[in-house]
Amino acid sequence: MSLHIDAGPGDIAPTVLMPGDPLRAKWAAETFLDGARQVTTLRGMLGFTGQWNGHPVTIQGSGMGMASLSIYATELIRDHGATRLIRIGSCGAMQPHVAVRDVILAQTASAVSTPSATILRELRFAPCADWGLLRAAADAAKASGTRHHVGGIYSSDTFYDERTDLTDQLVRHGTLAVEMEAAELYTLAARHGVSALAVLTVSDHLQTGEALDGAARERGFGDMVRIALTAAFANI
Ligand code: HPA
Repeated sequence: MSLHIDAGPGDIAPTVLMPGDPLRAKWAAETFLDGARQVTTLRGMLGFTGQWNGHPVTIQGSGMGMASLSIYATELIRDHGATRLIRIGSCGAMQPHVAVRDVILAQTASAVSTPSATILRELRFAPCADWGLLRAAADAAKASGTRHHVGGIYSSDTFYDERTDLTDQLVRHGTLAVEMEAAELYTLAARHGVSALAVLTVSDHLQTGEALDGAARERGFGDMVRIALTAAFANI
């Protein structure tokens, strides 16, 4: 039990998948986990725990944006003993060679700011993925024949971003995609000595304007969940 997660002792598994959308958490738990049960409903930010290939797994919604994710990830780690956190979510592509439906494995996550910036003060911390999880996810993506890219992404504070000059610089510096959570997840994981990774599906393309419809998003989401689960237990 913590301030925003209504789960009791032992309800949360050490491995947690975190989609932004709580209903995606429900769908992923029902689709991929055996014996999934709901462990928290507070504020509608649903969480479920079950088993995948005999391993306990929790799938917990994070909400949208770093401010929201920061609350759930902190409580999962500090109050519920999570040690491996994998964000599963969508992103917008920023490079011509990245296509809608591709999977992005976020090696680093740049940001203008994160909730952690208040304690990091003048330090420009470099949020990066856990190497073991990243390598295992790349192996899993390759083995399943999923088109994927490994590299830097941008965690934005705004979905409706009007800083076109900033987008231009990010594109110029090879940033693969934009989303809104990974930089804070990686920073929190570093601070607390746990492992984190963001596995993302490209849902829209900033340069072409192409976007996935609902059904295609769901199919892409399935590949991403499989990659995340395979990576989580590859080195155990
Ligand atoms: N911007 C920010 N976050 C996103 C986007 C986007 O274009 N697409 C999916 N998540």
